[in-house]
Amino acid sequence: MRTRIIGQEFIELDTVDSTNKYAAELLTKKKAAHGTVILAHEQTMGRGQRGRIWRTSKGLDIATSVVLVPIGLVAQEQFVLSKIAALAVHDVVAEAMLVSVGRSADRVRIKWPNDVLVDRRKVAGILISNEVLGGQVISSVLGIGINVNSSDLDADFNATSLRMETGIELDRMRIVEHLCQRLEHWLDIHATSPQPIHAKYAELLWHKGRFTDFELDGLPFSARPMDVDPEGRLMVEDENGAVKAYGLERLRFGTR
Ligand code: BTN
Repeated sequence: MRTRIIGQEFIELDTVDSTNKYAAELLTKKKAAHGTVILAHEQTMGRGQRGRIWRTSKGLDIATSVVLVPIGLVAQEQFVLSKIAALAVHDVVAEAMLVSVGRSADRVRIKWPNDVLVDRRKVAGILISNEVLGGQVISSVLGIGINVNSSDLDADFNATSLRMETGIELDRMRIVEHLCQRLEHWLDIHATSPQPIHAKYAELLWHKGRFTDFELDGLPFSARPMDVDPEGRLMVEDENGAVKAYGLERLRFGTR
């Protein structure tokens, strides 16, 4: 692994229920160093956002968890870990697109809070769990699922894979290494200043500045995503020009 920290401890599992669960257990036993990466070739009970199940095809996709033991990150700033993970995944997907199909990298965007899309289809999902103690984030598990070589995903459900987008079968281990490198890159940037992370995330926000269908408190709502606030709530401008920030408990993207 051509990295300094991320992935230097590398645990490769043939099969596991969930790499996030496995990582959490290692943390409980104090057996996970900063930067430990767990990769499973098969995940039988992958966890997704909002309690959903995350499916991966055995030997075809990437299911991985990265353990961070962040130093000096206060709980109020924890959304920056979501941004770092999303930016790293974005970079990996964008490079895969660029190398295989030319000038397509600008089709890759981050849908708040941290889905990575190619055009309007989801190619990767992220599930983060942080442990907070005394107002500080003392550990974090970045769970990342990337659809790599699956070819039977239902485009009607807005899912896609790198293979479906590029027509090429990709080397998963190469992608995992690149992911570790990009995570390390953004974590290094963060250690100096989080500002470039905030700027890049805002730049890559899906539908930024475009009126988009949402549901706000269960009712249809049209607004344009502008940025996220420091707590990670999406800042949207409504049709009257008012800008407000909403969390996932109130705002979600409309189904169409
Ligand atoms: C989402 O619903 O978009 C988040 C999906 C996150 C899936 C990954 S796969 C590796 C890690 N282990 C899990 O159980 N979930 C995450």
